[in-house]
Amino acid sequence: MLQDRFGRVHDYLRLSLVDKCNLRCTYCMPENIRFLPNKHLLSDEELFAFAETFVEMGVKKIRFTGGEPLLRRNAGAIMERIARLPVQLALTTNGILLHEFTDLFGEIGLRNINVSLDTLQTERFAEITRRDQFQQVRENIERAGRAGFHLKINVVVTRGVNEDELLDFVALTASERIHVRFIEFMPFDGNRWKWDQVCSYREMMARIEDRYTVKKLQDGPNSTAKAYRVSGFAGTFAVISSVTQPFCGTCNRIRLTADGKLRNCLFATQETDLLTPFRTGEDIRPRIVEAIRGKAKELGGLPAFQDESALQQKLDGRAMVKIGG
Ligand code: 5AD
Ligand code: SF4
Repeated sequence: MLQDRFGRVHDYLRLSLVDKCNLRCTYCMPENIRFLPNKHLLSDEELFAFAETFVEMGVKKIRFTGGEPLLRRNAGAIMERIARLPVQLALTTNGILLHEFTDLFGEIGLRNINVSLDTLQTERFAEITRRDQFQQVRENIERAGRAGFHLKINVVVTRGVNEDELLDFVALTASERIHVRFIEFMPFDGNRWKWDQVCSYREMMARIEDRYTVKKLQDGPNSTAKAYRVSGFAGTFAVISSVTQPFCGTCNRIRLTADGKLRNCLFATQETDLLTPFRTGEDIRPRIVEAIRGKAKELGGLPAFQDESALQQKLDGRAMVKIGG
C-alpha cells in the first residue's frame, strides 16, 4: 500500500503516455515547448512494466494522460495490454482521435473518458487551442456518448476567455446525460497565470444559481469535484476548485511522466526519476515508496496562490503538458 506521512493511501496513477499534443492550448503549453526525443520516453515494454509494478504496490485505477495520450505510437496496444492487469482504466483526451479508439475501448472495458473542451464556439476554440478542430471534437463527443461511454467534459474557466459560456455548458446537460466539470484556472510554467484570471468556485456557482435551481449531489470519497444537478436535467455538472478550495486532504493521486519521472503531486516542485535506475536494473520500488513518503501536505508545498511573484519562481519546468493533469 502506498501510504504517505499523512495517512493518505495512493491507489490512483495518472500515467502519461506521451508528452506531445495535437493542440496548443495556451493555458497548458508554453510557446517555446520542446518535446522529448523518443529515447527519453518509456518504451512500450517499460510502460507495461511500470504499470504492473504500481498495480502490485496497490494502484487500483490508472488514467492515461499526455500531452495527448492517443497520439502515442502503439497507444491501442499499450492500453490493451495494461487492461489485462487487475486495474480500473480511464482516459483524459482532447477528443480529436477518439473515433479511432472507441471500438477498442469497448473491448477492453475502458468506459470513463474525460474530454477537454473549453468552448462551444468554433472560432474561440481555434483561439484557445491554436488549432481548428472544433467540429471533430464535438462529433467525437456525441459519438462516444451514443456508444454509451461515461463522459466528462473538462472546461478550464478563465476570466476574459470563456467565463461567459458557463451557462451554455450547463445548458448542455439539459438533455444529454453528460457530466460537465468547470476547472479553476491553475498556474503552470509558461501559462501566464494571474490570480485575477481565476473564476472562483463561488463566483461560478453564483452565476449558475442566478439562472438555475441546482441541487448538490453526493461526491465520491477522493473526488476533486463538487457535483450538482439542475432540477430536471439529464446530465450533471461540477466545479473543481483546485485554486480557491484545494482538496489535498483526500488526495489519492500520483503521476508518472512520459519520461518515467514520478510526481507525488500535481504541484510538486520535485520529481523522482524512475526510468534511469530501471534501465540499470535497479529495483524501483523503494524509490516509489520514498517518493510518496515525501509528499507535501498541501499543493506540493507551493507558496499561497495569491503571492504571484513567489509562485512564478517556483513554476520552473512545471508545464501542464508535461505533467498530464
Ligand atoms: N488549469 C486548469 N486545468 C488545466 N488543464 C490543463 N491546464 C490547466 C490549467 N492551467 C486541464 C485540461 C485537461 C486536464 C487534464 O487538465 O483541460 O482537461
Ligand atoms: Fe493538448 Fe490538453 Fe494541453 Fe490542450 S490542454 S495543449 S489538449 S495536452
